[in-house]
Amino acid sequence: MSPPPAARLHRIAARYAARPTVSAFAAAIEQPSTGFSWSHGDTERPYFIASITKLYTVAVVMQLRDEGALTLDTPAADLIGADTMRGLNTHGGRDHGPRITVRELLSQTSGIPDYFEQKRPDGTTFLDDVLRADAAWTADELIDMARRLPSPFAPSTPGRAYYSDTNYQLVGRIIETVTSGSQEEALRTRITGPLGLRDTWMLTPDTLDRYGEAAPLLHRRRALHIPRAIASFPPDGAVVSTVSDQLRFLRAFTGGRLFPEHYLAEMTARWNPVFSRLTPIDYGTGIMRFRVPRVLSPFAPVPTMVGHSGAFGNALYHLPGRDLYVAATVNHPDDPEPLVTAWIEETLRHDTSSQMLARVTTTDIEMHGRTIPRGDRVLLLAGSANRDDRAFADPDRYDLDRDLGSVGIASFGVGRHFCMGASLARLEARVVLEELLDRVSSYEIDEARTSRVHSVNVRGFAALPTSVALR
Ligand code: HEM
Repeated sequence: MSPPPAARLHRIAARYAARPTVSAFAAAIEQPSTGFSWSHGDTERPYFIASITKLYTVAVVMQLRDEGALTLDTPAADLIGADTMRGLNTHGGRDHGPRITVRELLSQTSGIPDYFEQKRPDGTTFLDDVLRADAAWTADELIDMARRLPSPFAPSTPGRAYYSDTNYQLVGRIIETVTSGSQEEALRTRITGPLGLRDTWMLTPDTLDRYGEAAPLLHRRRALHIPRAIASFPPDGAVVSTVSDQLRFLRAFTGGRLFPEHYLAEMTARWNPVFSRLTPIDYGTGIMRFRVPRVLSPFAPVPTMVGHSGAFGNALYHLPGRDLYVAATVNHPDDPEPLVTAWIEETLRHDTSSQMLARVTTTDIEMHGRTIPRGDRVLLLAGSANRDDRAFADPDRYDLDRDLGSVGIASFGVGRHFCMGASLARLEARVVLEELLDRVSSYEIDEARTSRVHSVNVRGFAALPTSVALR
């Protein structure tokens, strides 16, 4: 007989919570129709809910709509001025900005570039800046950043959506203009106050000292101290809440206690893939849908969930078909195991498994004052390139804190013969190492009995006798 669901859930949660990089795991599930409720971890501990903030912003907009202050088809320019909207979507050489509607902002169909994660011409992102040093930005500055980025498509291009935090910065401006107040005030007077959510609040420039009340945000092994940055994202990421409060909010959101219930049917009527077609996340009007295709889980279909996810490993979802409400946080940035990523990449660099690649030159090549004549055979030493001190500081040191993204490693080759299996190889390594982390608390290698693979090209072990202690 299988154990009762609560015991099984606890077992899964405990395994996850024990991972070394998970700093504050908490989760809760409720099924109002049966009275079932389950939780694990400290469900009263506040944490940054990141992009789940958008659901609070949407709830305010739906209230304003109910009050007749706007409609979903109102052009944003009518509410916050054409100047703010100008130049925000110049796809195809036309300025579509002034005709973008509230609906297009909420549903991520505006085609407005994303100030937050979209790559700038130099290949960096604003998120890189945020992780590097704390700073404050005004909404105008963030919106201006988007103006300098290319738009992916014209507004309401059928089947297209693009996840852009800029959409919600603009919605935040709409809330401030229409209510003649701050977004924090709108949250407090319209949502947290009426619902009695005492542990849900917004970090603002006036309350930066409250940053430490929320569970620390981790990036790799470092705790991030970015209060000024977080306070710059009132409509798209500045809310702090607890798992308990989150569930109460979601039940109110879906149950008609924040805005007319029939709005929700409309918000969930049309979905567009918002990241790539391979990601199981679609966007409706101000709400996310998480749906794992049957082909990826043929024996145990995953029920459809609607709600929102947030960076730092946060989820808030309703499973309408099962009357289930789920809130969870693992409280670390969106990479599920940043240390595992670093472990894989630094190992690929430091212990390059394909040490060399062979080529025949098709033209004369000038390099370092010498000419390699056409038709010559060349041995490219990828292992050596990965230890080049012009690219990697102190290259012989194995260092999990390296920023390898900005340099790039040579382990899978480069150019048109770049390894076709690179993604699979990384995925396989991730699965193995995550399972190892889950199950093994310590290990010991019998170094005397290790042996290397004998090969001119392949670097690795033929034998690595290891004893492990299970968790
Ligand atoms: C850690 C594991 C792996 C490493 C280090 C690795 C490394 C490499 C390197 C360096 C190249 C470039 C060869 C060249 O430029 O001459 C390459 C090419 C290739 N790799 Fe991998 N590989 C790995 C795993 C895989 C896997 C799992 C697959 C397939 C399932 C795969 C399939 C290929 C193929 C088909 C090419 C040739 C691509 C072409 O010539 O266009 N590799 N690999």
